[in-house]
Amino acid sequence: MPPNLCTLLFVLATTVSTCGAIGVNWGTTASHPLPPAKVVELLKSNNVTKVKLFDADPGVLGALSGSKLSVTVGIPNALLKSLNSSKKAAESWVHDNVTRYVSNGGGGGGVKIEYVAVGDESFLQSYGEQFHPFVIGAAMNIHTALARAKLESNVKVVVPCSFDSFLSESGHPSKGHFRADLNRTMIELLTFLSKHNSPFFATISPFRSLRQNKNISLDFTLFKDNAKPHNDSRKTYKNSFDLSYDTLVTALSTVGFPKMEIVVSQIGWPTDGAANATSSTAETFMKGLMAHLRSKSGTPLRPRNPSSETYVFSLLDEDQRSISTGNFERHWGVFTFDGQAKYRFDFIQGSKNLVDAQNVEYLPAKWCVVNNNGDLSNATASASEACSHADCSAMSPGGSCSNISWPGNISYAFNSYYQQHNQSADSCDFGGLGLITTVNPSVDNCRFSVQLRTSLSESFRPDYLSLCMTLLVTTLLLSLPRFT
Ligand SMILES: *[C@@H]1O[C@H](CO)[C@@H](O)[C@H](O)[C@H]1NC(C)=O
Ligand SMILES: *[C@@H]1O[C@H](CO)[C@@H](O)[C@H](O)[C@H]1NC(C)=O
Ligand SMILES: *[C@@H]1O[C@H](CO)[C@@H](O)[C@H](O)[C@H]1NC(C)=O
Ligand SMILES: *[C@@H]1O[C@H](CO)[C@@H](O)[C@H](O)[C@H]1NC(C)=O
Ligand SMILES: *[C@@H]1O[C@H](CO)[C@@H](O)[C@H](O)[C@H]1NC(C)=O
Ligand SMILES: *[C@@H]1O[C@H](CO)[C@@H](O)[C@H](O)[C@H]1NC(C)=O
Ligand SMILES: *[C@@H]1O[C@H](CO)[C@@H](O)[C@H](O)[C@H]1NC(C)=O
Ligand SMILES: *[C@@H]1O[C@H](CO)[C@@H](O)[C@H](O)[C@H]1NC(C)=O
Ligand SMILES: *[C@@H]1O[C@H](CO)[C@@H](O)[C@H](O)[C@H]1NC(C)=O
Ligand SMILES: *[C@@H]1O[C@H](CO)[C@@H](O)[C@H](O)[C@H]1NC(C)=O
Ligand SMILES: *[C@@H]1O[C@H](CO)[C@@H](O)[C@H](O)[C@H]1NC(C)=O
Repeated sequence: MPPNLCTLLFVLATTVSTCGAIGVNWGTTASHPLPPAKVVELLKSNNVTKVKLFDADPGVLGALSGSKLSVTVGIPNALLKSLNSSKKAAESWVHDNVTRYVSNGGGGGGVKIEYVAVGDESFLQSYGEQFHPFVIGAAMNIHTALARAKLESNVKVVVPCSFDSFLSESGHPSKGHFRADLNRTMIELLTFLSKHNSPFFATISPFRSLRQNKNISLDFTLFKDNAKPHNDSRKTYKNSFDLSYDTLVTALSTVGFPKMEIVVSQIGWPTDGAANATSSTAETFMKGLMAHLRSKSGTPLRPRNPSSETYVFSLLDEDQRSISTGNFERHWGVFTFDGQAKYRFDFIQGSKNLVDAQNVEYLPAKWCVVNNNGDLSNATASASEACSHADCSAMSPGGSCSNISWPGNISYAFNSYYQQHNQSADSCDFGGLGLITTVNPSVDNCRFSVQLRTSLSESFRPDYLSLCMTLLVTTLLLSLPRFT
């Protein structure tokens, strides 16, 4: 065996055994998503080996073909009803969104699909019980369809559960349980999962725990050594992650599944749109989390038995995620929307630098601002209207643009709308109040963005363009007289 390969295998083996696998969630709820090929390049250059999707977008799966990344494809909640009631629908879904990619080429050209995630946190309390009756039936039908396609040994069916599926009123992990309305559904789910050796996917959200529970301090959330521990009978909890994790362990034990394997399917820290959502806090959290996972100490209820896999939430910011639960929802990315690292961090050691997306293509360096010489009496109404479509989440209290004063905040709103509308001139009109400028209006941490160039034809254009340029240059060179 060549020494290089040997070293590589050794490194891989030690990383896997010291720290479970670290993956990322890749969501695409953005007005101008970074082109899939760029994202795959970004994942590879940061040594990410596992990626979890929220759907099965053909463009994304196409880009992942032949990449060797392990992939979780997702089934949106809206499809659960039909997948529960129709085995045929489940078969088509598996055929169109799994089989086609897995077998595509086989010899390295396909997509390594590891899990199908049924529903996107369909048990979130804010959804009520609308999806509860369909989830398990849909999961069973998808499993049957995978078995018929002879894929069941490679592709497991999982059901990602939200951070609020389990809780402990007293804050003591030993009193953890599933939310009362989920009790029956959870037992069915766990029976199904254990029968097929599938792990339990759950979100853990120390950021939300900090916001919702006055007993939890920022230091305790950020894995700080000096944080005051929480005691639970004879167990001592030194951080919020362990507290939530063990609350889930108890909830699982209480319904009869004490050994169920847990995969942390979403964990992260937002960087804008709320108090304590900053890049430096996120950096501290992510480094603390990585160090904790790498230490292999597990949790008080599962010592030396940490999660096999952890999926960071999220890879990129998404400017069209729902903000019904908070303006921070659009700022979970380890990278900004355009693939630039927000802080120092890496997915293996947790302390090196991330590698940014390369050769990102932007719209021209133009912004839309308010014309200060105009009659601004209606400007506030125009700005609110703009914000109802565009992304103004950075202006919320604690956000990076919360200190921007009037009429700077009007400009921010106008620009966000203008960028989301591809800088079309009529999207910077606002009844004559808008003004297009080439001077970057960003102030301090408040970034006025320029959006990405995204259309399918445009994202392919650079290739044609460079090809044309090469041809042109070659032709020119050949036709030039020799300089001798
Ligand atoms: C990725 O892995 C290679 C080989 O082990 C290493 O040289 C490189 O620094 C890693 N990159 C990151 C961002 O961790
Ligand atoms: C789910 O599917 C099963 C099997 O087709 C069906 O009997 C059941 O009524 C469905 N559940 C709901 C709530 O529609
Ligand atoms: C998956 O397959 C279904 C059924 O063929 C199809 O309607 C759907 O568009 C496909 N893609 C996704 C992302 O679900
Ligand atoms: C907070 O701490 C108090 C005092 O220890 C305790 O009574 C209460 O149940 C705790 N609440 C939560 C939500 O943890
Ligand atoms: C949930 O189910 C378990 C086991 O059947 C039972 O012990 C517990 O009381 C139930 N809890 C609720 C809130 O319904
Ligand atoms: C937790 O227990 C330790 C000793 O086991 C004790 O020193 C500490 O004061 C306790 N903390 C709280 C908050 O009760
Ligand atoms: C955010 O952090 C500050 C300290 O930096 C703290 O005083 C405040 O209570 C925190 N806010 C929330 C919502 O936790
Ligand atoms: C402000 O809006 C009102 C109502 O739409 C309109 O009548 C008025 O002319 C506007 N004023 C300016 C200065 O545009
Ligand atoms: C906003 O201004 C206040 C008071 O000057 C300051 O404490 C805070 O850090 C500023 N926030 C941001 C996001 O710049
Ligand atoms: C801008 O600031 C003004 C004055 O503080 C406020 O009335 C208005 O609602 C703000 N507009 C936006 C879009 O944030
Ligand atoms: C912006 O351009 C992209 C690519 O051409 C297009 O798909 C999208 O619909 C446009 N957005 C708006 C708001 O016009």
